[in-house]
Amino acid sequence: MTMQLPKHVTIIEVGPRDGLQNEKSIIPTDAKIDFIKKLKMAGLQEMELTSFVSPKWVPQMKDAKEIILSFEDGTRNLVLTPNRKGIERLYETNCKAVAVFVGVSDRFNKKNINKTTSESMEELKPLIQELKEKGYFVRACISTSFYCPFEGKVDEEAVLKLCSTFVQYGVDELSVADTIGRANPKEVFSLFSILKKELSTTMLTAHFHDTRGMALANVLAALQAGIDRFDTSAGGLGGCPFAPGATGNVATEDVVYMLEEMGISTGINLSKLVEAIDVINPHLTRPIESKFYRLAKAK
Ligand code: HMG
Ligand code: MG
Repeated sequence: MTMQLPKHVTIIEVGPRDGLQNEKSIIPTDAKIDFIKKLKMAGLQEMELTSFVSPKWVPQMKDAKEIILSFEDGTRNLVLTPNRKGIERLYETNCKAVAVFVGVSDRFNKKNINKTTSESMEELKPLIQELKEKGYFVRACISTSFYCPFEGKVDEEAVLKLCSTFVQYGVDELSVADTIGRANPKEVFSLFSILKKELSTTMLTAHFHDTRGMALANVLAALQAGIDRFDTSAGGLGGCPFAPGATGNVATEDVVYMLEEMGISTGINLSKLVEAIDVINPHLTRPIESKFYRLAKAK
């Protein structure tokens, strides 16, 4: 018997957005731009560059427009936003790809966006239709797809229902997230198998946080369920400021190393990735914990 594995996996780098949004000290815009440039040089073609959110809620992201305006290079540069105000800011740039976000659980969504899940969906429906009519690439990030920090276990049916609604609204991609890093590989395999079966015409991406050290195992479980797109963060930075206990995303370099060792191509150059992390490292308040980066630096 052989493992069922794809030949190629697409990595969506979320370090400049998810990775940096949780950093308490404000990082200079130039350093963020340099970080993104170096990530691109390492081969990362799809990336969340920043977010259009309230600077009062997430001060780190207040330079979002300047960052977006620095990158008009034809690759899939995504900006994350939850509302009309963010889309209006998007229209002031040439960015053509957007990630909207909503939590399956009401209590998390309220903490994160100050709306219930259905209020968010009501706001997003006409926005997504408008974006699609204008030719934008739209992805929907589905937070708390496994566990909510306030409500506990989240039902698979609720995730499927929310994802199906986004598909009806016309999104191109669904990024299904374990926001607080609590899912185990069995749960991951189960949910992604259902989503793959029911929503096979939409791009499905897995987004894992590594709070309990299960993210790499979850990548493997998602691969087994047929997923070949993963959100990862260089250096394993990240976490949602409104999800208590959530730590960083699974590290890009650890995922790339594992996949390449398994004979699955990613198109990413690991030594250039380490150079990108070197650029942002001096500006961080927390140590980089990824295994690959630590090994590379110990040499
Ligand atoms: P609110 O206070 O209810 O909103 O916050 P409001 O409409 O009353 O606006 C408050 C102020 O924010 C106003 O400014 C608005 O203009 C401004 P004021 O009049 O006071 O000067 N505002 C904005 N400014 C810039 N861009 C915008 C924007 N919207 C309003 N888009 C709001 C509601 C949604 C704004 C707030 O809750 C917010 O910004 N939340 C963002 C939270 C966030 O960024 N979370 C992290 C990203 S999600 C995540 O990490 C999860 C993910 O990785 C997947 C996973 O792991 O689960 C994607
Ligand atoms: Mg996240």
